[in-house]
Amino acid sequence: MADLDDLKDTKEYYLDIPQKSEAFYLKGLNAIDWGMQNRLARIFNPKTGRTVMLAFDHGYFQGATTGLERIDVKIMPLAAYADTLMLTRGILRSIVPPSFTQSIVMRASGGTSMLKELSNEEIAVDIEDSIRMNVSAMAVQVFIGGENEKQSIINMTRLVDQGTRYGIPTLAVTAVGKDMVRDARYFRLATRICAELGAHYIKTYYVEKDFETVTASCPVPIVIAGGKKIPEFDALKMAYNSIQQGAAGVDMGRNIFQSEAPVAMIKAVRSVVHENETPEKAFELYNSLKANE
Ligand code: 5RP
Repeated sequence: MADLDDLKDTKEYYLDIPQKSEAFYLKGLNAIDWGMQNRLARIFNPKTGRTVMLAFDHGYFQGATTGLERIDVKIMPLAAYADTLMLTRGILRSIVPPSFTQSIVMRASGGTSMLKELSNEEIAVDIEDSIRMNVSAMAVQVFIGGENEKQSIINMTRLVDQGTRYGIPTLAVTAVGKDMVRDARYFRLATRICAELGAHYIKTYYVEKDFETVTASCPVPIVIAGGKKIPEFDALKMAYNSIQQGAAGVDMGRNIFQSEAPVAMIKAVRSVVHENETPEKAFELYNSLKANE
């Protein structure tokens, strides 16, 4: 039992210091619960408000795609340089050591392969498993304008509802059909619908023209996917432009793991995202690190 006889009458009330009440540093996310903010703070570096997510969930519909044949050999050496790993639960359980303490964003939708209509997805992970895997966010594909648009939107809203019950944020991934135009108008529509319906942050693609209107009109943070492999300098320039035009980070896969020097590339991407390094300087860094890789 606690000893109550000797209690000192403490006078350290600091009456002259008002208690701090800080706004959360990520836009549009001030009114969500502590657990959610804490998980987001594991994804988005609190010092810069930005993130480098390393995406290697492609196998969930593509199988062992180029660069992802052996995740243990090719991807795990990069993991230490990412703020977050974006992957599937199968890879998390089979390859990633539980001693890995950086944050995890787990793909929670699936159900089709590249041989069929990709938009025909459902939620493919129970919320209980996301909790069990201690993930920092769940990712779901949203196909605005796609064949199964409504189904994919409802997948997202269900995931948001389930995640909200337990403090796990939802990342909406805007998926663009092969025949659809990738422009700012489309991404303004897609990202805004996802945000209006509750997604906590949104992955989209960078577009050369008017990308800043996409980030400005989306009330929650946006990260960009890297897309198809392009030359390293171009990928760094795309990352730089997106950050300067309001993106809060990248969720990059192929342009890192299919690079000639993946460790050098992820370090160069980090310098652009977290240090505002120019593409020219970041490319110099890439080349100097590449020489040692
Ligand atoms: C696959 C995804 C990927 O995570 C996303 O496309 C990012 O990877 P990349 O930079 O290779 O495009 O969502 O569906």
